[in-house]
Amino acid sequence: MHEVRIGIIGGGLMGREIAAGFARWCALTDVTVRPVLTAVADLNPAALSWFEAIPSCTLRTTDYHELINHPNVDVVYAAVPHNLHEQVYCDTLAAGKDLLAEKPFGLDLAAARNILEAVRRSGRFVRCSSEMPFFPGAQRAVEYARSGALGRVLEVVSGFHHSSDLDPHKAANWKRLSAVCGAGGVLNDLGMHACHVPLRLGWRPERLFAQLQKGYPRRPDGRGGQAECDTWDNALLHCWTQIGGEAVPLRMEMKRLAPGATNTWFLEVLGTDGGVRFSTAEPKTLWQFERGKEQWWKRTELGFGTPFKVVTGGIFEPGFPDVIQQMWAAFLMERAGQLEGRFGCATPEEAVASHEIFAAALQSHSTGSVVAVGV
Ligand SMILES: NC(=O)c1ccc[n+]([C@@H]2O[C@H](COP(=O)([O-])OP(=O)(O)OC[C@H]3O[C@@H](n4cnc5c(N)ncnc54)[C@H](O)[C@@H]3O)[C@@H](O)[C@H]2O)c1
Repeated sequence: MHEVRIGIIGGGLMGREIAAGFARWCALTDVTVRPVLTAVADLNPAALSWFEAIPSCTLRTTDYHELINHPNVDVVYAAVPHNLHEQVYCDTLAAGKDLLAEKPFGLDLAAARNILEAVRRSGRFVRCSSEMPFFPGAQRAVEYARSGALGRVLEVVSGFHHSSDLDPHKAANWKRLSAVCGAGGVLNDLGMHACHVPLRLGWRPERLFAQLQKGYPRRPDGRGGQAECDTWDNALLHCWTQIGGEAVPLRMEMKRLAPGATNTWFLEVLGTDGGVRFSTAEPKTLWQFERGKEQWWKRTELGFGTPFKVVTGGIFEPGFPDVIQQMWAAFLMERAGQLEGRFGCATPEEAVASHEIFAAALQSHSTGSVVAVGV
């Protein structure tokens, strides 16, 4: 196994999830690259101290510049609040490191474009984190959509729902403040999850109409006071895209106020001859529509058919930590030139395209009109 030394900037929710994914890398049986966590940077000493449990992680620093300039780091994973993306990502690239960085690649479209320019200038290998398409059911849905078996595509729905904001007593965090999360709010937070597969399939929205909703205007601040929360919480984007020379409705849904949902990513593609539906609410189940003399929705229990093979039994069901690991396998194998046709991580260009969609959505909502995307 070829070892790649990783430094994590931001040891919060996602930084720890990624570190845990590396710790069980032995589960993967057909990769030639192994990540070794050597460094972590976080302003919060409590976040840093969690990484003491990982023996290879010998550099724990509050200054991310120390990490990006350290010779013991080949690749940086950055998972910091959105207002820091542009600076941290551009500094990392200027220090000569490759980068897997969290969505949405900056506060807004201008920041995402600046990051893309820095990627191109640096020549480094850079990808954007988006793990949900690595579920076996999502992979099968993508394959089926590409196969042509759907006939003429009639409509596409792609979304991500959770209900973290339903409880008014939950303390605010930076994701509820536009200054840190970005004016896009939920678009920045969950949008890449909904955009990744349609963009990868070439189904780029040409124009859209957006409906945005806010959540509670104030929440406890966790220190006995109240915090003003000004971000959009739910977004419905009604888009037109081109598929097979036809204009096709594509709906993207991103919700932090979805009653009953925890972390539900879903994709549905319906055509005249076939259809496919996958949701992480049923993590090993694929629904396929077929039309003959009669019509069927066929349910297949997929089990653990991940793109990169693992020791886990084929009948077991996959979950979030598994697809995080699969995404990293895709990143490291593509970096090593060994992706071999498998699904790759979201590209910086796709991250910019997602921000073009978010910018159009903000404009559409404020003007109440249909807006062209990316102009
Ligand atoms: N891919 C996914 O499914 C997924 C899920 C959640 C969050 N995210 C993304 O991950 C990123 C981080 O989100 P999170 O939920 O982990 O946030 P978090 O608040 O849990 O963690 C962020 C960490 O960054 C640290 N930090 C802040 N400023 C810093 C600085 N200057 N230098 C070093 N560390 C600093 C904070 O102390 C904190 O520990 C965001 O871009 C978010 O959109 C992705």
